[in-house]
Amino acid sequence: MEILYVNSKEEGSQKGYEMIREALDNGAKVFGLATGSTPERLYEKLTESDVDFSDAISVNLDEYVGLPGTHEQSYRYFMEQKLFNQKPFKESHLPDGMNEEQAEIERYEAVLSKYPVDIQILGIGHNGHIAFNEPGTALDSHTHKVALTQSTINANKRFFEKESDVPGYAYTMGLASIMKAKKILLLAFGEDKAEAIKDLVTATEPTEDIPSTVLVNHPDVTIIVDQAAASLI
Ligand code: GLP
Repeated sequence: MEILYVNSKEEGSQKGYEMIREALDNGAKVFGLATGSTPERLYEKLTESDVDFSDAISVNLDEYVGLPGTHEQSYRYFMEQKLFNQKPFKESHLPDGMNEEQAEIERYEAVLSKYPVDIQILGIGHNGHIAFNEPGTALDSHTHKVALTQSTINANKRFFEKESDVPGYAYTMGLASIMKAKKILLLAFGEDKAEAIKDLVTATEPTEDIPSTVLVNHPDVTIIVDQAAASLI
């Protein structure tokens, strides 16, 4: 696990941008994308650049159950606003929050088998969740439906009018699905991520209590942290 210490979110987003660019230049075809505020600046940098994803495929980590892609808080809508509208991919895949559970799990697993991820961008939740894999998720999990924890609902309610509007469930790639990516780039900025980053970088083996620790066994992980997120390590 390589840790890159940067001074700011701006610098970290620039590094992330350069790594994505390098991967594309080196022939990467499938880009694993994440939502949340963490990669927003990185996506902005991609949209401001001359990068061309028209031959590439994107697959996203997760989506809220019950929100159609046209809903402003859906992750599909987020991706369209932040990246896809400006930089279209040949194909962009996200879980479909309106599809029935079993059908959606099978459909998305088929997408992931068809398009193995070359480079996966990740953020991290306060409780160490990656994608929507909350503490207690099996380390060998694949795409599944999850009930969001109160901690995640609290963190995400800022995007909704009121807490009761935050969906209680999501479809997410599992921890084993994420581990299949050839290369993983995890970004964390700000003091509120310091505890989660400490837990991740001090782990010696994966534990279900802290989902991010599954990454300890991945051969190619880079973590980009600003000073605040690195303040407890
Ligand atoms: C959400 C997403 C995660 C994301 C996390 C952190 O729960 N499902 O993929 O990493 O929140 O979000 P943020 O980057 O806004 O801190």
